[in-house]
Amino acid sequence: MTHRKLQPGKLVIASHNAGKVREIRVLLAPFGIEPISAGELGLPEPEETGTSFAENALLKAHASAQGSGLPALADDSGLCVAALGGAPGVYTADWAETQKFEGGPGRDWYMAMGKVEGKLAELGTDTDRSAYFVCTLALAWPDGHTEIFEGRVQGGLTWPPRGLLGFGYDPVFVPEGRSVTFAELDPAEKHAMSHRADAFRQLVATVFS
Ligand code: IMP
Repeated sequence: MTHRKLQPGKLVIASHNAGKVREIRVLLAPFGIEPISAGELGLPEPEETGTSFAENALLKAHASAQGSGLPALADDSGLCVAALGGAPGVYTADWAETQKFEGGPGRDWYMAMGKVEGKLAELGTDTDRSAYFVCTLALAWPDGHTEIFEGRVQGGLTWPPRGLLGFGYDPVFVPEGRSVTFAELDPAEKHAMSHRADAFRQLVATVFS
């Protein structure tokens, strides 16, 4: 299959997650790309009905490319815990879902981290605490062409949560070879080693070089 290059210009970031959009903007800054988020364009957020990271990323990228007439980049990511058979996996964001109320956030990451910890605790004190983050990036053009990349970062889960930086499950994730959590790391350091960085390295090598 021939890979397609991404030309400088506008690119829709098919995400309504401010944390992700912020990280993706930083990662794309050197390539002459003008990122605009799907939220800024008022594009609807499709339901993530896929059962794999790739399916969900493609769903979001296609919806934004078709809705905007511009190339679109979607990220589907999540935390996979070995002892939980890869859960929460594609349901990582769902585990944070709370009852939505007017003006309320709808997602509670501390509750979600507590859920993961609760399930590990049920398995006993000497349970394997290894986990990895996955990031699947799907790049879609309005004519239907797609490119897809998957990145990972291996690590382990700590409890209680530590650190105030980053987003999502960062306060419980300790990357392999380090003793601090992603939420305690300087953002530049996280960007250099994260699952998103790994997927972006592959994207850059394929569509920008
Ligand atoms: P989705 O890709 O929008 O379905 O959401 C995946 C969820 O995984 C996010 O909302 C975060 O909670 C979690 N996640 C993905 N990447 C990271 C990360 O870099 N740090 C912490 N949590 C993450």
